[in-house]
Amino acid sequence: MDNIYQAAERDRLGFWADQARDLHWHKPFSQVLDFSDAPFAKWFADGQLNASYNCLDRHVLAGLGERTALLFEGEPGDTASFSYSELLAETKRAANALLALGVQAGDRVAIYAPLIPETIIAMLAVVRIGAVHSVVFGGFSAEALRNRIQDAGAKIVITADGGFRKGKVHELKTAVDTALADNSCPTVEKTIVIRRTNSPVTISTMDLWWHELIAAAEPEHEAIGFDSEHPLFILYTSGTTGKPKGILHSTGGYLTGASFTHRTVFDLRPEKDVYWCTADVGWVTGHSYVVYGPLANAATQVIYEGTPDTPSFGRWWEIIAKYKVSIFYTAPTAIRTFMKVGRDVVSGHDLSSLRILGSVGEPINPEAWHWYHDVIGNKNCEIVDTWWQTETGSIMISAIPGAFKTKPGAAQRALPGITVGIVDEAGNPIQPDTAGYLTIDEPWPSMLRGVWGDPERFKETYWSKFPGKYFAGDGARFDSDGDIWILGRIDDVIKVSGHRLSTAEIESALVEHHWVAEAAVVGAKDEITEQAIVAFVVLRQDEIADAPIEADMAQTLKDWVVQKIGAIARPRQIMVVAELPKTRSGKIMRRLLRDVADGRAIGDVTTLADSSVMSSIKEKMENESHD
Ligand code: PRX
Repeated sequence: MDNIYQAAERDRLGFWADQARDLHWHKPFSQVLDFSDAPFAKWFADGQLNASYNCLDRHVLAGLGERTALLFEGEPGDTASFSYSELLAETKRAANALLALGVQAGDRVAIYAPLIPETIIAMLAVVRIGAVHSVVFGGFSAEALRNRIQDAGAKIVITADGGFRKGKVHELKTAVDTALADNSCPTVEKTIVIRRTNSPVTISTMDLWWHELIAAAEPEHEAIGFDSEHPLFILYTSGTTGKPKGILHSTGGYLTGASFTHRTVFDLRPEKDVYWCTADVGWVTGHSYVVYGPLANAATQVIYEGTPDTPSFGRWWEIIAKYKVSIFYTAPTAIRTFMKVGRDVVSGHDLSSLRILGSVGEPINPEAWHWYHDVIGNKNCEIVDTWWQTETGSIMISAIPGAFKTKPGAAQRALPGITVGIVDEAGNPIQPDTAGYLTIDEPWPSMLRGVWGDPERFKETYWSKFPGKYFAGDGARFDSDGDIWILGRIDDVIKVSGHRLSTAEIESALVEHHWVAEAAVVGAKDEITEQAIVAFVVLRQDEIADAPIEADMAQTLKDWVVQKIGAIARPRQIMVVAELPKTRSGKIMRRLLRDVADGRAIGDVTTLADSSVMSSIKEKMENESHD
């Protein structure tokens, strides 16, 4: 295994070129990296390829058409399986259907659908014709969906009548109707509706049924090559400001990164492994490690529509036993939830097929690591703790199975071909065991190509703090062996159950309510979800004459945030306060609010304009928690 580290060290660009050549190129590339317009990078720029062809056609042409690509498990217990040939046939029809609707290369298609095979087929069909998908997680509200459709200027929206979640129908088409109401998204020409739950939906002249389109579509479609830098998808993620950013990825570099890391980090043996990543396709993990990585590598994988606890906490373990899953990839928050339920949750399920366990999305605490290792892995599996981001497109830091001894809680090493650093405020490398800022020091193939529609924001957000280096927004430290420990975000991005949210985004949702004059949101520590949202609000005295009592008001404001962003952003607590703690220059001191939310002693208040503000907030918090 040392060999790939050494090979990458000897000739980094040659190493990446070799990985890229593992894909099928309609036109081979001769250039590897062009960083002359830094920080905008071009990888394999004179080559052409088709992402859908790489995920499907080439495997079928290589004689792997009969291999199972998807083993679908619906939440109610229905199942379906697709071989690579079947997935290709469906994707070709879907591509033809989109073409018939006038979708052209470069057009954007929004996808707001459950984790079912049709959603993956839709993604592959969109990119097959060179269009760009923007998948929006089904847990986002109609308003959040509307903002994303508008920002991307989507021409088509693909959705479903609903999906199954927690034993109920989660309505999706109705949310799309609300998002598009009053011609608020004028770029949208048609909505395509996948039938999943058979729940009643309104079908207007703008709406088309997926199954009818597919049935009527031509079966043959030849995939043509697109430039390596042709945009592949946009995925919105939260940053430090109120407005989510459309992270843009392009074809050749992204597919190189996703496929290389998938086969390397999970030690994939595609002819015998059964792989399962529990992420939804609405998140980057679902893009890189449910769709593009596994399919480009001709893997056989399980996809599951529902939640881990439906109908019981045994569901995931039952699925692993049923399909003999050998590689399993999930988030620490799920592990902690199961830990709380207790080890009985796995009893009666044969998990002996497992060989590799992955973790992603937030730091995995050593207790959760040990539970994962001992109870799920029966002390027999390697754990790979994988650090990366929507922006990085693929895993940047992780152990590679068998390469070195893993340490509970450490993300460990940069992957071959990736150069990371940890620096102090001035940008100087720090000593081991000192906390610093995590940077990526050289461009990598699957790096984001920009923020959709806002090139300045790309430079400013990622490349201005430490000139010439990509600043990830995370704190980290090296230990004395040179292993990396991720310490979490150092900005106003918070992680709730592995979902990335911005405190500023929740604050702006709150102040849009007429009762609220000011809001400050912090991520408080939470045993299960890592962080939980706690909001402090100051009310507008002129607007609250008819408002309900405080407890009901807090409930209304929680629902309001759900309506504005989605259920994933529901605050755990909303506290009405007379004033927010501010410095003399008017900056809100969230650090102090975090102390209160975590029940700690309050830190230094000397820079506050009025230091009594904090004592009254603390007193109120204590009274509320005693109620
Ligand atoms: O803070 C880091 C955390 O998740 C952030 C990226 O979030 P997102 O773009 O939603 O992508 C999540 C899935 C890749 C990072 O800035 N993070 C991700 N993986 C880890 C992690 N923190 C610690 N350890 C990890 N393995």
